[in-house]
Amino acid sequence: MPNAEDIASELRDLEALAQREWSGANPAERLGLKSRYLGKKSPLNAILRGLKDLPDAERRTIGGLANETRDRLTALFEAAESSRASVAATPYDYTLPGRPHPRGHGHILSQTMDEVIAIFYGMGFEVAEGPEIETDYYNFAALNFPPDHPARDMQDTFFLNDEHLLRTHTSPVQIRVMESQRPPVRILAPGRVYRNEAINARSYCVFHQVEGLYVDSDVSFADLKGVLVAFASEYFGPLVTLRFRPSFFPFTEPSTEVDISCLLCRGRGCSLCKHEGWLEILGAGMVHPAVFAAVDYDVNVFSGYAFGMGIERIAMLKHGIDDIRLFYENDLRFLRQF
Ligand code: PHE
Repeated sequence: MPNAEDIASELRDLEALAQREWSGANPAERLGLKSRYLGKKSPLNAILRGLKDLPDAERRTIGGLANETRDRLTALFEAAESSRASVAATPYDYTLPGRPHPRGHGHILSQTMDEVIAIFYGMGFEVAEGPEIETDYYNFAALNFPPDHPARDMQDTFFLNDEHLLRTHTSPVQIRVMESQRPPVRILAPGRVYRNEAINARSYCVFHQVEGLYVDSDVSFADLKGVLVAFASEYFGPLVTLRFRPSFFPFTEPSTEVDISCLLCRGRGCSLCKHEGWLEILGAGMVHPAVFAAVDYDVNVFSGYAFGMGIERIAMLKHGIDDIRLFYENDLRFLRQF
């Protein structure tokens, strides 16, 4: 015959142990406690089943105690369970250390573009954009390319049909902007351009340019030199000097190609500059009268300059990148360096 005193103290010990285990357990372990303390095979259940063998008076006191113990443990387990319904579904371990989320950053080409835009923005230029699929008119005709100009060759340009092509430069944005507004115009047009070129370390079928255009009643070549010198010393550092070489573009007259003093040898001659001492960074010139005629600007009232530079090119020079294809391969070991 079981002793009522012993059973009462067993109940007290059981409850104390359950409480202690509960507060020391992690969420996964807690899931097992309920069945261990309240399930069919639990000591508490054995006590409840044994009640029928007790004399009447003891059955009532011990039965009451056992029921209270069961109710308190049930409340303990269920309160925690309902507040952690999702925990019961998926056992989480809140004591695990967190997983780091490494922070990303812009692609080196985006960074370069933002830097160039910021420099010219500081000189009063606004950003303008145009489509990458252009018509022959905007990409060539309005920019004074004669019908038989070799740039129109299938060899150089991706034509989509007789009329449409992938723009080969950002200069068509000049036309679109001047068609839609009157001077003064001071814009910067960054974007992608496409050329059907053999792919190698120096040229790729797609690259980025930034076009600049300033038209007003009294714009001179000296203004063009001024902004380009200011840009170069800001982007490449105050020690670089610029060289303006005469050149030709159908849409500017006079036209120039602009070099910076070699960043590696400072003009003395090295393998980066092929012993020239100079590195070409952009094309520029005064807007051609034929271009003003195409957008109906009075050539007797307005003058302007335009320039276009390759983003990959200036990024390669500044950061010592020796292969243009690296920009497009998305190798994180390359991209993470910037
Ligand atoms: N569009 C020319 C190129 O792609 C660059 C340029 C822009 C030259 C503006 C003069 C003026 O080479």
